[in-house]
Amino acid sequence: MRPGPPTIDPAAYAADGYAVIPDALDPATCAALRARAAAIVADFDPQAAGAAFTTDERDRTIDRWFLDSGSTVRCFPEVGARDAEGRLRVPLDRAINKIGHALHTLDPVFAPVSDPARWAKVLGAAGLEQPRPVQSMYIFKGPRLGGEVAPHQDAAFLHTTPITVTGLWFALADADRHNGCLWVCPGAHRDPLRRRFVREGDDTRFVELDDTPLPTEGWVPVEVPAGAAVVFDGRLPHRSARNVSDRPRPAYTVHYIDAGSAWSADNWLRL
Ligand code: FE2
Repeated sequence: MRPGPPTIDPAAYAADGYAVIPDALDPATCAALRARAAAIVADFDPQAAGAAFTTDERDRTIDRWFLDSGSTVRCFPEVGARDAEGRLRVPLDRAINKIGHALHTLDPVFAPVSDPARWAKVLGAAGLEQPRPVQSMYIFKGPRLGGEVAPHQDAAFLHTTPITVTGLWFALADADRHNGCLWVCPGAHRDPLRRRFVREGDDTRFVELDDTPLPTEGWVPVEVPAGAAVVFDGRLPHRSARNVSDRPRPAYTVHYIDAGSAWSADNWLRL
């Protein structure tokens, strides 16, 4: 018998700002997503992502590589993975930090997993009446290589009025505190949005909105097995530590907004 559509407890989600969906993806789907990501990387030309230029030109090219990635599928090398000429210092299959940002619409393997209809009950319980995916990322977090992600709120980057951005984070391998699992601050999604990442033309900057510090206590690791998903509120502070293990910590994330909320025109991502 096929399991029913995945769902979560709305009251627990409202209290904590996140919920775990066990068995969101079966092992074959996890394997297919990992294989597809490896194939995208194998096709990647590292010289394309801003290299072999002067430092200034390279910075501008890297910025463009990011700013134009919202409607395409691009690989983003790890910081330090390339030398000044853009040549890789490490093998290609270890050199990529992430793939973004339109796997959910453009990639035939990732798109079905990202379909909001598939997660309608979960996203509905999270408060999204008309969920619309706007951004997706495959994150490699390689063994002993994947770096720390500092505490932040996703609504800083994907802002709407009212704030509706909600993340679905799929663990494609067991994720624990040793290989850099997600950490969250339960309940802290009720605190204000601290800052926004805004775009003016080709420039981006942070705008401070509220000087309440992000929490320094109360963080909990969300250790989940392969195939589990974590759904979380766009205001929930979250982070991940370095991967200090010999295991990768691959994850796929999709961010949804409610189609009834107004997309902020100065988001980096142009819809
Ligand atoms: Fe995030």
